[in-house]
Amino acid sequence: MAWHRVSLSVRVFERRSSVLVWVQGRPILIARVDGKLYAMDAVCAHVGCALLSSTEGYESVCPAHEAKYDIRTGALVAPPRIKPELPCEEEESKVPLRTYPVAERDGLLEVEL
Ligand code: FES
Repeated sequence: MAWHRVSLSVRVFERRSSVLVWVQGRPILIARVDGKLYAMDAVCAHVGCALLSSTEGYESVCPAHEAKYDIRTGALVAPPRIKPELPCEEEESKVPLRTYPVAERDGLLEVEL
């Protein structure tokens, strides 16, 4: 494992609670809650939609079918609201989503993976 610098200032959190970044080809959701940073895979385990929505407290909500994840652990805290017309099966979920150490260095974000 190695630390990878994200070319994004921590000042981004002055205007939003979370941000989606790419680190070593992986989409990672970075969020800040009460001054502490969290990083988690940003691909929903349901059918693979990107976790693009802003976080609400420690929860990241998938915009597709509203599955909720805890950004501290990657655990699924609310299952997807499966729509009958979609071929989604909750049983296929692979949770928890992977989480990563994240830090601020010199005003920029770094993720270890
Ligand atoms: S893809 Fe995220 S809840 Fe369905």
